[in-house]
Amino acid sequence: IIKNIESLEVLDSRGNPTVRTYVELEDGTKTFSTVPSGASTGMNEAVELRDNEERYGGKGVKSACMNVENIIAKEIKGMNSTKQMEIDSIMNELDGTESKSNLGANAILSVSMAVAKASALSLGIPLFQYLGGSNACRIPVPCMNILNGGEHADNSVDFQEFMLVPLGAPCFAEGLRYVAEIFHTLKAILKDKGLATSVGDEGGFAPNCSSNEEAIEFIVMAIEKAGYKPGIDVSIAVDSAANSFSPNLDNHYNMIWSGAGEMSSDDLIDLSSSWLDKYPIVLWEDPMSEGDWDGFSRFTQKFGDKIEVVGDDIFVTNTKFIKKGIELGTANSALIKLNQIGTVSETIQAVRLCREAGWRYFLSHRSGETEDTFLSDFAVAMDGGHLKTGSACRGERIAKYNRLLEIERILAGKSEYRWK
Ligand code: PGA
Ligand code: ZN
Repeated sequence: IIKNIESLEVLDSRGNPTVRTYVELEDGTKTFSTVPSGASTGMNEAVELRDNEERYGGKGVKSACMNVENIIAKEIKGMNSTKQMEIDSIMNELDGTESKSNLGANAILSVSMAVAKASALSLGIPLFQYLGGSNACRIPVPCMNILNGGEHADNSVDFQEFMLVPLGAPCFAEGLRYVAEIFHTLKAILKDKGLATSVGDEGGFAPNCSSNEEAIEFIVMAIEKAGYKPGIDVSIAVDSAANSFSPNLDNHYNMIWSGAGEMSSDDLIDLSSSWLDKYPIVLWEDPMSEGDWDGFSRFTQKFGDKIEVVGDDIFVTNTKFIKKGIELGTANSALIKLNQIGTVSETIQAVRLCREAGWRYFLSHRSGETEDTFLSDFAVAMDGGHLKTGSACRGERIAKYNRLLEIERILAGKSEYRWK
């Protein structure tokens, strides 16, 4: 039974305010959860409520915290914390908008996650089992983002994320070791070439490569130099985050960071085609902008039986858009981010929809993160087979990897590690 709810404005990994909510149950259980925040967001994401006052450049979240304490808490105090769906739908009703712009998705999600954590704690079971049942045992393959570009870095690479996918490893701990070793090897390679080894928002390196393709060449080089076989031990995933180089979010693209100039959807498909011939790429996220449904579908038609084509900004973890994507054959997978939709229950519904359609789903952090490890447990609970939660540096990313190591140990011998 929920006894008390309080919220605190804290900072995320970019130094911007975010909402942390504390939940106390009558049995004495106390816990909290903190929400993340994106930078390259989709237009239809649930709305983060910001104060738009002078403090923190307008990014304060005091009003969201107040909404938790003055509006949400009043309604859900006294409720059984395990009634997740009921609690989430009460918050949605209180908000009254489709976009959660009234109370703020940041306010609502902080409560939604904290209530789930409190329930697990009170029942004395790990969060991943509380959310995924006692059979939840698959630890996701860590798609480690080791080279950043686009809106996540200040360099000359247009594509936002290049990830290592250790799908040939025997278990999570080994997979994590493979990619962490490659991270250090890549650092040495970049240093050797006189390139910067400073990192972007998700902890990947952000060198000024001479082209987008050079980024991927460095990565293949690093995989080999670290002693792994590209395509067997470790493959590659790309997130173009094509919204960020489509000025009008349509089928026109302008590669502003590399200076490569304007491209059409077909040009991007040709470029992908040549990369897929040369490099061991197994997953491609947001190859087109969120307005280019047609380009997205053509991309999926062409490559969908070979690789996982993931929609992020185009679907925004919203069943309405995922349904449309399933009907149109826009992709074969959806990125899943809790704060894009704003409650735990609705995120689970998005995952279910993907599963029913035979789609994959890719669990994800945000570029602005916190030390909260909810995502790690959630990814195991959802049995998605893979997640992305940044690089082998930056504490907010490492916290999630460390929690996954812990879960693998909790499951001692019963855990599974399988890409598909
Ligand atoms: P974001 O980026 O968290 O800045 O939206 C992540 C992504 O595009 O996958
Ligand atoms: Zn993305």
